[in-house]
Amino acid sequence: MSAQEQAEWTAVDDYLTSRLLPHDPVLAEALETSAAAGLPAIAVSAAQGQMLHLFALMVGARRILEIGTLGGYSSLFLARALPADGRLVTLEAVPRHAEVAAANFERAGLSHLIDLRVGPALETLPKLEAEGAGPFDLVFIDADKPSNTEYLRWSLRLTRPGSIIVCDNVVRNGAVVEANSADASVQGVRRFLDALAGERGLTATAVQTVGAKGYDGFALIRVGA
Ligand code: SAH
Ligand code: DHB
Ligand code: MG
Repeated sequence: MSAQEQAEWTAVDDYLTSRLLPHDPVLAEALETSAAAGLPAIAVSAAQGQMLHLFALMVGARRILEIGTLGGYSSLFLARALPADGRLVTLEAVPRHAEVAAANFERAGLSHLIDLRVGPALETLPKLEAEGAGPFDLVFIDADKPSNTEYLRWSLRLTRPGSIIVCDNVVRNGAVVEANSADASVQGVRRFLDALAGERGLTATAVQTVGAKGYDGFALIRVGA
């Protein structure tokens, strides 16, 4: 994308967000503390976070699973959709990221709803299953893209008919169409889409997006017939 296109997308995102999302000091501080701690600026945009919040409200989610916490920005949008006895389990491999996220959950007054598990998700997910966690009503996949297919498989084990799975970053500036891409993330997304195409009993789509976070997209999946 050109610098001018990106400037336009960001201006429109800022405008829409200014109309539809009241200024929120807790969310702003979550981004500030993440930046101050040197975390990469790859959280969802505010508009995307609010979309996750709306998805959770739309399905009446009581149990949510997130794979890839970073500083907890998307987690806050998801947790805020939960009822008082709801639960968000969020998985993060990097201890420093998890520390920043935990502090953000405290500041938001949401720690009692959030179960933050530190470690590689492919180690944590079997433990969750063994504990009998789930079924989750909504899963947000947003960690290392090469593992997306495994995250899809685990998500299907840990959900029920009617559950929703959202997977971030499936367009990658359009690179997803490059069958011979040398980018492991692109190949991870492509394998994920192949796996989705081969699954029966799912209803799925993927939507391209532009905005403050550039040109990307998300996949949306409903589990069950
Ligand atoms: N969902 C966040 C952004 C997540 S960025 C938001 O929108 O606010 C991706 C995160 O996944 C990073 O924090 C990264 O450390 C984490 N991650 C990468 N590989 C992982 C793995 N194998 N298991 C768990 N988390 C992982
Ligand atoms: C990257 C990861 C993300 O989850 C995201 O939303 C944007 C970029 C990345 O790894 O580059
Ligand atoms: Mg992402």
